[in-house]
Amino acid sequence: MTRTPVNVTVTGAAGQIGYALLFRIASGQLLGADVPVKLRLLEITPALKAAEGTAMELDDCAFPLLQGIEITDDPNVAFDGSNVALLVGARPRTKGMERGDLLEANGGIFKPQGKAINDNAADDIRVLVVGNPANTNALIAQAAAPDVPAERFTAMTRLDHNRALTQLAKKTGTSVSDIKRLTIWGNHSATQYSDIHHATIGGKSAVEVVNDEKWLTEEFIPTVAKRGAAIIEARGASSAASAANAAIDHVHTWVNGTEEGNWTSMAIPSDGSYGVPEGLISSFPVTCKDGKYEIVQGLDINEFSRAKIDASVAELSEEREAVRSLGLI
Ligand code: NAD
Ligand code: LMR
Repeated sequence: MTRTPVNVTVTGAAGQIGYALLFRIASGQLLGADVPVKLRLLEITPALKAAEGTAMELDDCAFPLLQGIEITDDPNVAFDGSNVALLVGARPRTKGMERGDLLEANGGIFKPQGKAINDNAADDIRVLVVGNPANTNALIAQAAAPDVPAERFTAMTRLDHNRALTQLAKKTGTSVSDIKRLTIWGNHSATQYSDIHHATIGGKSAVEVVNDEKWLTEEFIPTVAKRGAAIIEARGASSAASAANAAIDHVHTWVNGTEEGNWTSMAIPSDGSYGVPEGLISSFPVTCKDGKYEIVQGLDINEFSRAKIDASVAELSEEREAVRSLGLI
């Protein structure tokens, strides 16, 4: 193996998403079957022992691509020379906690991590925020990293995208690989909007293939938007393997590109496209090429879509105001 290993930092490494994610990174699914990786696991002090247990299991897999594992509770160590950072660890909402409390608690995590990325990461650092509220946590981290290009901070809506693909494939009796150009807009929250107006199924208009407006508005969109809560209800724990899978997909696509004629959904800093206020980290249709993403331009947005996008973006603006007033950005 002659290639230089890529340093991949995972926060919240001892958590349930971490457990579903690390083995896939180490086996080459994040970056490619020919790319060696070094893992940096960041945890809070009480969870370090559990992270060590996971590292022992990683060792026991004898992954040829895995060139080292470092475990730490110090963000400056975890992000030292980091090329890819997956920010998974976050403070979950607990009983009696208001949204403002949640944002403040997460500010205590993502602000120092953003600063540590700013001070220590490699020049080509790419950041994916998974920990909720993902879009606004990404904004907090980005604001604390003024020396890193803003577009390197992204948040995950790929799980919503994948959920929407499967719901649509099931409804139409097709395969997920027949579906192209689906979009998740806005926040990774119940206000998100899964949009099939530009999507195709087997080359035909998805709206025409579905031909059921009631299903679209009353079943499809809410099912995708509330899927996270439905998983919690069914499993007694939030999605983990599917979230890890989406994180792998997000970074893999960002680095290796989207296929010709298709796009994906990523929450990225808005450049003002589609009327989304500049700087908000909002989900858009994007294509990726040569390690860079670009918002798909020129899509017609009908009145229905406009209202849905605006509602989710309004929530993101409120979250931005809340963290601004807390001095987090
Ligand atoms: P979990 O509670 O199992 O694990 C979280 C881990 O983060 C814990 O081990 C905890 O010790 C660690 N942690 C907490 N603070 C930390 C810090 N400051 N630095 C490093 N590590 C820290 O949770 P999980 O199921 O793995 O989920 C993680 C997050 O991902 C949650 O916020 C969850 O809501 C979110 N999530 C997002 C999506 C998405 O689509 N964006 C999907 C599923 C879950
Ligand atoms: C998900 O979409 O599965 C999670 O974001 C749900 C949650 O609240 O953790």
